[in-house]
Amino acid sequence: MVVFGGTSGIGQAVARRFVEGLGGRVKLVVVGRRRARGERLFGILPEGPRRVYVDLDDEESPAEVSREDGQGCSYTFLACDISLPSVLNRACAWLRERYKRVNFLMLTAGPAFSVGERKVNEEGVEERLGTWVYWRFAVLGGLMCVSSSLLSVCES
Ligand SMILES: NC(=O)c1ccc[n+]([C@@H]2O[C@H](COP(=O)([O-])OP(=O)(O)OC[C@H]3O[C@@H](n4cnc5c(N)ncnc54)[C@H](OP(=O)(O)O)[C@@H]3O)[C@@H](O)[C@H]2O)c1
Repeated sequence: MVVFGGTSGIGQAVARRFVEGLGGRVKLVVVGRRRARGERLFGILPEGPRRVYVDLDDEESPAEVSREDGQGCSYTFLACDISLPSVLNRACAWLRERYKRVNFLMLTAGPAFSVGERKVNEEGVEERLGTWVYWRFAVLGGLMCVSSSLLSVCES
């Protein structure tokens, strides 16, 4: 299960319920910006699966996971700012490389509410468009080839 926005709110609640329902027998990837929130969530999930923290700016951490991937259950925190297309694309590439199949994908990241002036970030993306709309299409496109339901359609 991959949950963009799984460190808080709706995404965290669903991820927690899902993992608890399966007694921790899952591969969970929580995507967000704040590792501390990921640590807090993993602290209350069932014991057993190893905890992995991935920062794609840290050359060591992805390598560690690529060696271990596929070896049992895990709770992984993947640091990613969805408002930055370059970071988001790297996160999707990282997921594609390590998981042959994603059975459940949740896209609940982003601010609950946003008002104020139009702001454009350093990658030229308008903030509200970037955090409400663009990133969801980018993730769907980026993970289409490993999405379980789409694979099922293709295979049938
Ligand atoms: N709650 C509601 O009643 C409600 C109603 C309708 C729609 N929604 C929508 O549902 C979504 C989730 O709402 P929520 O209440 O669960 O919000 P929330 O508790 O504030 O959780 C937002 C999640 O998104 C992540 N996030 C925020 N900005 C991010 C960014 N730039 N890059 C990566 N991750 C980011 C946060 O993690 P980090 O802080 O670690 O990055 C957190 O995990 C929002 O898009 C909201 O508009 C909510």
